[in-house]
Amino acid sequence: MEIRDTFSRRRCYILAAFSFVFTFLFGWYGLKSSEWHPSIIFRCTVNNTSDDIRLSRLDLLSDVRLDRMVYAKPDVLQPPRTDVLTITPWLAPIVWNGFYNRDILNAQYHQAGVRIGLTVFAIKKYVIFIKDYIETAEKFFMVGHKVNYYIFTDRPNDIPNFTLAEGRSLSVLEVPGYKRWQDVTMRRMQMIRDHTRDRFVNEVDYLVCIDVDMVFSEHIGVEILGDVVGVIHPGFFGASRKAYTHERRPESAGYIAVDEGDFYYTGCFFGGAVEDIYKLTNFTHHAMLADKAKNMEALWHDESYLNKYFLSHKPTKVLSPEYAWNNYYGSPAVVKVKRLLHVDKDFKAVRSN
Ligand SMILES: *[C@@H]1O[C@H](CO)[C@@H](O)[C@H](O)[C@H]1NC(C)=O
Ligand SMILES: *[C@@H]1O[C@H](CO)[C@@H](O)[C@H](O)[C@H]1NC(C)=O
Repeated sequence: MEIRDTFSRRRCYILAAFSFVFTFLFGWYGLKSSEWHPSIIFRCTVNNTSDDIRLSRLDLLSDVRLDRMVYAKPDVLQPPRTDVLTITPWLAPIVWNGFYNRDILNAQYHQAGVRIGLTVFAIKKYVIFIKDYIETAEKFFMVGHKVNYYIFTDRPNDIPNFTLAEGRSLSVLEVPGYKRWQDVTMRRMQMIRDHTRDRFVNEVDYLVCIDVDMVFSEHIGVEILGDVVGVIHPGFFGASRKAYTHERRPESAGYIAVDEGDFYYTGCFFGGAVEDIYKLTNFTHHAMLADKAKNMEALWHDESYLNKYFLSHKPTKVLSPEYAWNNYYGSPAVVKVKRLLHVDKDFKAVRSN
């Protein structure tokens, strides 16, 4: 990132030193919430052709070496938090703020050169959400990593042009717009499945699928990656099984009995390795078709089928409700960071079109 154009070498060094100290102090303050990452450094470079000296902020992510990384020792007797469940009975981590070190994760995934696809559906009037979605994703989603955005839309001409950071690309995929919003949401699984098979599998390692009526408001990075990833719905993390809004009719392909079910997962955010997303979307699409043949539709549409899938294909990583927050649910103490937020909107106005 370019900070200033030209100045003397000495002034550049002084400014770089100040910038570094400021970042360090500022970052140190943030360290208390385990959010700081010291991957940013300042340096002065001489431009060979013009002899100008430039101060730039360098993202050192790719230079981080795992074998020489200094960080606090993980302490077996001192868990960072004791107020939340951090592991499932099948030993999948539940990702909450304060439990992970971003530098270690970034270094690991940089070594692997991971490529991440983000799918989003901007159908009909929902296209109005895409600008804020992509702009905030540029700020907070997988910063420093390779990202391909895949925008499914029936209105390609309404997708604005975006300036993306290095290593990131955007593709607009034209799809039909179904009449009912329920069909739009249900057909998403089929569209993701088909494009995964035909294209995504050749372009990315992981796929993340997040609804368009959301904005990224805090860091969301490689800590969310895993083979099968579900997100706990913000409205149900303290609820009993009985209160989960699973599909309860036994004849539905989305049926979950009242004494079953682990968490209530949101339908607005799921992810996984590209091959696993293929299986997940194929399952949910077929479940929807099976119900359609019986003239049925699960209570919460693709969210119900997704919950059914996660019952028999347990997520290998579960994300806390930090990752799909809705301010309708206020600000409970356990949710220390709201990383992704539902956009307040007039549901009816958008859905009726
Ligand atoms: C985006 O850029 C292309 C090519 O530069 C241009 O043809 C198109 O009109 C632009 N679209 C918008 C919505 O600005
Ligand atoms: C997709 O799901 C259907 C129904 O569950 C199944 O019969 C089929 O084998 C699946 N396809 C693949 C390629 O996994």
